[in-house]
Amino acid sequence: MRRIAFALLASALSLSAVAQTKPAAQTTLAATPPMGWNSWNWFAGKVTQEDVKAAADLIVSSGMRDAGYVYVNIDDTWEGKRDANGVLHTNEKFPDMKALADYVHSKGLKLGIYSSPGDQTCAKYEGSLGHEQQDADLYASWGIDYLKYDLCGFGKEMNSKAPGDRLKQNQMMHDAYEKMHQALLKTGRPIVYSLCQYGFDSVWQWGPSVGANLWRTTGDVQANWASIALIGKTQIGLSKYAGPGHWNDPDMLEVGNGKLSLDENRAHMGMWAMLAAPLLAGNNLTQLTPEVTGILTNREVLAIDQDKLGKQAERVYQEGPIEIWSRPLADGGVALSVINFGEDENFVRGISLHLKEAGVKPGMKARDIWNAKDLGAIKDDYKYSLKRHQMLLLRFSK
Ligand code: GLA
Repeated sequence: MRRIAFALLASALSLSAVAQTKPAAQTTLAATPPMGWNSWNWFAGKVTQEDVKAAADLIVSSGMRDAGYVYVNIDDTWEGKRDANGVLHTNEKFPDMKALADYVHSKGLKLGIYSSPGDQTCAKYEGSLGHEQQDADLYASWGIDYLKYDLCGFGKEMNSKAPGDRLKQNQMMHDAYEKMHQALLKTGRPIVYSLCQYGFDSVWQWGPSVGANLWRTTGDVQANWASIALIGKTQIGLSKYAGPGHWNDPDMLEVGNGKLSLDENRAHMGMWAMLAAPLLAGNNLTQLTPEVTGILTNREVLAIDQDKLGKQAERVYQEGPIEIWSRPLADGGVALSVINFGEDENFVRGISLHLKEAGVKPGMKARDIWNAKDLGAIKDDYKYSLKRHQMLLLRFSK
């Protein structure tokens, strides 16, 4: 009798262990590309705690949170000095990080932060070199949910310890990223890990092995079309490295910044969605226009970015300045984009859609997303015209 009771108890215990471990497996960090907002593109070094609070408020009131933008990420320049015990403090722009995290969490959002494996960050604030675990523990104690770890100051370390030895320098870089990965794991808190080292040493090949949930593939994006177009076009060949939990990051969004036109904002957003890119808005949310909000929260565009299959687009065809990219979707459908990267004001040429090469099966029905129009079953000779920097974004379904 006691034996049976013991066996029952044991199986109940193992069942409850299964029940406890299951949710963890279901909540893979960054199962779809992370979405949120980051302070750098607009505020750069001027960002304050009040700006971040205001951003959190506006993410909620603009409907961005409900569209999926949940990470509120503080970039560089929050760091103060270390005390005698090596504990890092915030600077005067961020008087109380714990209170800020509590505030952001109370809005149903998550808080992200920034550091460097070097002794200094890019903006020459305090980095984490030699204090990795201490910093990771500090972030966890505040309730941080996301870390962007930016190589910058570590370059000095690489050059001084392995002058001229590229292979050794690369190994040092891998080790530095792995060190912070281990430190984050040790905190026990799920913290999205974002590598920022501009794609050095083909980071997409080793990022997942150092625990990266995303890694920058490029230098810094700027709020102009030339920068956005260059980044978009150079993501060719990277799709095989991305997937649930680990994403290529072509850098943050500039939608709503600079002097980008409606077509440019749409093409930028659409390209990033095709690329299964992390979507971190980088604009001044206090100046959101209905046009920019509409682009950032377009549910059909976001559905492509966030598609559960996690397959980033590849280029199917290029003709002069026109490029056709496609990606398969979880429902068996296909997303296809055509962008006119040319400068001619009205470049109209008969560009075939190359549907078969793009993975579109005969009979699939198309929807023109930016124009919110169902097109029915179209063929390669579908007639459209694209002005400079304009994007045709189609979703094909069975
Ligand atoms: C680098 C990064 C940027 C930003 C700045 C902050 O340039 O690539 O995204 O984080 O540092 O100093």
